[in-house]
Amino acid sequence: MYFKELKGFPKDFLWGSASAAYQVEGAWNEDGKAPSVWDYFVRIPGKTFKATTGDKAVDHYHHYQEDVRLMAEMGLKTYRFSIAWTRIYPQGNGEVNEAGLVFYDHLIDECLSYGIVPMVTVYHWDLPQALEDQYHGWENRRIVDDFVNYAVTLFKRYGDRVKHWIILNEQNVFTAHGWMLASHPPGKSNDMKMFYQVNHHAFLAHAKAVLALKELYPDAKVGSSFAYTPGYAYSDKPEDAMAALDYNDLQCFYWMDVYAYGRYPKASMAYLESLKLTPDIKAGDLDIFKQAASKVDFMGINYYQTADVEYNPIDGIHNMNGENNTGEKGTKPITGVAGLYKNPQNKNLPATDWDWTIDPMGLRYACRIITSRYDLPIIISENGLGAFDKLENGQIHDPYRISYLKSHIEELKKAVDDGCEVLAYCTWSYTDLLSWLNGYQKRYGFVYIDREEDENSGTLKRIPKDSYYWYKQVIETNGEEL
Ligand code: BG6
Repeated sequence: MYFKELKGFPKDFLWGSASAAYQVEGAWNEDGKAPSVWDYFVRIPGKTFKATTGDKAVDHYHHYQEDVRLMAEMGLKTYRFSIAWTRIYPQGNGEVNEAGLVFYDHLIDECLSYGIVPMVTVYHWDLPQALEDQYHGWENRRIVDDFVNYAVTLFKRYGDRVKHWIILNEQNVFTAHGWMLASHPPGKSNDMKMFYQVNHHAFLAHAKAVLALKELYPDAKVGSSFAYTPGYAYSDKPEDAMAALDYNDLQCFYWMDVYAYGRYPKASMAYLESLKLTPDIKAGDLDIFKQAASKVDFMGINYYQTADVEYNPIDGIHNMNGENNTGEKGTKPITGVAGLYKNPQNKNLPATDWDWTIDPMGLRYACRIITSRYDLPIIISENGLGAFDKLENGQIHDPYRISYLKSHIEELKKAVDDGCEVLAYCTWSYTDLLSWLNGYQKRYGFVYIDREEDENSGTLKRIPKDSYYWYKQVIETNGEEL
């Protein structure tokens, strides 16, 4: 279906780049900030690559002016960043910390002074440890009120200047890693019942925050960002097609249907009921989901890869944990759910050193699914390549990153031409940053940061890579010159 001239990106298209507080800010205990669950988790031996922490990260907290100036020189249209809940409410609730609010005032104003649109993520995984201690955080329904209180504080303080809000980042990822894989806080494994309960609380937090924002600022644009890994059937066998349907329902639509329609997918609920895993849904919850769904302005997606899906018999592989966190290519184990599906590596596509499938067309595919299923505008809130970068004579030549981004933008352009309403494209990431489980060696940025795993290494100097200059030209030509 591709044979015509491309129309190209709309004039007001937001070319952006993204980050998250814990991964860039550092200053982990400054100006009244209290620890988040991540500040604790990274200190548990064996949890992160070479015991890396975000204590200093890339010190964006103290370098934000320099970072934003570099964004302005690049011509960036939007900067997506998250706010650390622990800077605003160190205890999660109770006393607000004015110094924390002031930091983000400055960051937002700095962006605006250059005409860069701030796109704010309310929650990118750094839950206040105090809430974990008070009532086990997301496991307790009390989290919903505390989350909304925190979100409303941000809306009231910044809503005059921030028009784009992403409520939750990758609810599917932080809950899967936190309650199934033990690789994110609170480090629980295979607690499926709680996994679905925690998700129900997170959906409520998302929905109530959406409604609260729209009360205050009806014109604000709001949604959440979902880590969308579309599933392809491995073969033309009907059982693989059915397995792909199961995978897509349970791994993708389970979240996007709630954001967009305010309901859980029927087949997923039937499956959960058969296993006695359905969450406790109180009267009125689904109404709140529905009301919020009618107010959501976009589907945010973080797109990195697609998944191959093959039928997996009941006595087949049962392993959800399939990560390569070392960068040694070919070490990622196959994952699968016995009786439903497994996810072998796609033989038709290359992969990164961390075994993430590289599938540019999958981005167009993802946009098309969202458009036909939900008919919502789309924000690509993350897309990028984690790679080893090498500093040579003060420069970083990263043609592999340029080629990755170029091929994805080409496919995005086709999606736009197919009729998908795409509002923004944010690369992951702007500067190099801490990869939660992969340390500092897995680099994503346009701007190299001189530091390595060791907390005392490097000068934190900012060095624009070749991809920085390439993206500058992409923005200048509105995606025409790639
Ligand atoms: C997304 C997250 O899952 O992917 C980011 O929103 C994360 O915070 C990014 O850094 C890349 O993942 P990783 O594991 O390579 O850092």
